[in-house]
Amino acid sequence: MPSRATVMRVTISACGTAYYAGLVAKYWLEHIARVPVEIDIASEFRYREAPMPEGGLAVFISQSGETADTLAALRYCKANGQHIASVVNVHTSSIARESDSVLLTLAGPEIGVASTKAFTCQLAALACLAIGIGRARGTISREEESKYVEGLMEVPRLISTLLRDESQFVDLAQQLSQSRDVLYLGRGVSYPLALEGALKLKEISYIHAEGYAAGELKHGPIALIDDNVPVIVVAPEDELFAKTISNMQEVAARGGQLIMISDSDPVAAGCEQAVHISVPKVNPLASPLLYAIPVQLLAYQTAVSRGTDVDQPRNLAKSVTVE
Ligand code: G6P
Repeated sequence: MPSRATVMRVTISACGTAYYAGLVAKYWLEHIARVPVEIDIASEFRYREAPMPEGGLAVFISQSGETADTLAALRYCKANGQHIASVVNVHTSSIARESDSVLLTLAGPEIGVASTKAFTCQLAALACLAIGIGRARGTISREEESKYVEGLMEVPRLISTLLRDESQFVDLAQQLSQSRDVLYLGRGVSYPLALEGALKLKEISYIHAEGYAAGELKHGPIALIDDNVPVIVVAPEDELFAKTISNMQEVAARGGQLIMISDSDPVAAGCEQAVHISVPKVNPLASPLLYAIPVQLLAYQTAVSRGTDVDQPRNLAKSVTVE
């Protein structure tokens, strides 16, 4: 690894769901380790001829470790003197072999085409990376590190709680399965979750879905809202919660059907129109890992309700090894 003094910037590249894990990591690395992060989709990054800083760290995220665009982005960064770190699930893969440092996600083989457990494991590895860099740079104390780690260690138990009763997802999915378009909103670390929710829904149920940063609502997507468009909001009660609620009220005022995935009750939050998907309270660092589960379950149950092939959606491949 470059030394503490020389890490000027972290550059992240990935594709699909792995890219969304990278978007979450950007928030963590900037917030916890106070290091500037640039992130791009690998297919864009590889042709941008981006200038790379001396002593930079380049991070590549890939379940398969074989995605052609991610591998090409890695080779570009290597040729430009970056330290190459990868977060991969397959330790024998090309991306793992060509990296200076490898963080294995150890998710086990992932068979379904749409990334699910690989995503949560990528998030766990990236959270550890951000905490580790934060400690090395002295931006967090040992006590803060312990709190973050405790928050992460709680996640498996909280996920089990969520998985114990899927009935709330089944009922909602039946309604969603009738929709033509679905909008997902989130702020901060929940914005990539909104993108991921929309991706999962379109991949496996073939319903058109868009993910947006909640603050962008008024710059376009609000024009789509009527009483036929479900709006799914990823809304943990964090420091941006009040702003997300205000976006939800804008949706409610236009007749949108709100679904609020949150650890806070919509009525108490001033959004009584919303259907609530209840999520247990969690350390804010770990919220993307936990909120990935309801987002995935909604897509899964909607696909089941429509009778589509959840494991092998049409036109998609598990690993994209060509451009
Ligand atoms: C395909 C898969 C996605 C995956 C993406 C990146 O599109 O269907 O689930 O997120 O490739 O794959 P990787 O193996 O690089 O994570």
